[in-house]
Amino acid sequence: MDITRRNFLKIAGSALIFSFGTVHAASENILIAYFSRIGEEYSLGTISKGNTAIVAEIIAEKTAGTLFEIKPVKKYPDNYKECTQIASKEKATNARPKFIGKIEDFSQYTTIFIGYPIWWGAYPMIIATFLESYDFSGKKIVPFCTHGGSGLSGTEQNIALACPNAEILQGFAIQGSIAQKNRSKTESIVVENLNRLNFI
Ligand SMILES: Cc1cc2nc3c(=O)[nH]c(=O)nc-3n(C[C@H](O)[C@H](O)[C@H](O)COP(=O)(O)O)c2cc1C
Repeated sequence: MDITRRNFLKIAGSALIFSFGTVHAASENILIAYFSRIGEEYSLGTISKGNTAIVAEIIAEKTAGTLFEIKPVKKYPDNYKECTQIASKEKATNARPKFIGKIEDFSQYTTIFIGYPIWWGAYPMIIATFLESYDFSGKKIVPFCTHGGSGLSGTEQNIALACPNAEILQGFAIQGSIAQKNRSKTESIVVENLNRLNFI
């Protein structure tokens, strides 16, 4: 019988939940929480689906995880420049913009992918609100972002500071224009990273 890696992980079951390094059981209960904006976007013109949303949906599809969109109570402007000004002010004032809705039974999730665009070399302040809204103790967190060139920009370290009792796994970054325009490349980057982390 051909025992694939995935089946092996399933058979091994709960023993592997307590991960050895980067090995994770297929039985992880996965949540993908993300913030993403539509409207006029850096080097892309006007987009009707956010770059990070595209990546989040692919992760959900590949892992059968649950998606949660971190939707701001106060929508950010479609106009790029206006949005950058608001984002800059929120960063400077260490703001905590509110989001709509809540995650049902957060405790059921063992791994949380957290996705965001890079804004001013950091995660948008609404991610700080999100990180402070739930108890991440004992959870695994996989940060992922889309960006215009900055990569993860040290956001993993800031997530670690905000969630000192969580295990932060090495995340990944995808250029926003690739996520928006090149589905197959985006899928292959996601799959490569999910494989690296042993989630698929
Ligand atoms: C307010 C704002 C600030 C940004 N700052 C940066 C930045 O510092 N570095 C970077 O590489 N890209 C920056 N970008 C570009 C976004 O990170 C990039 O376009 C991202 O893919 C947008 O994702 P979304 O469509 O999910 O919102 C910024 C975009 C906005 C709107």
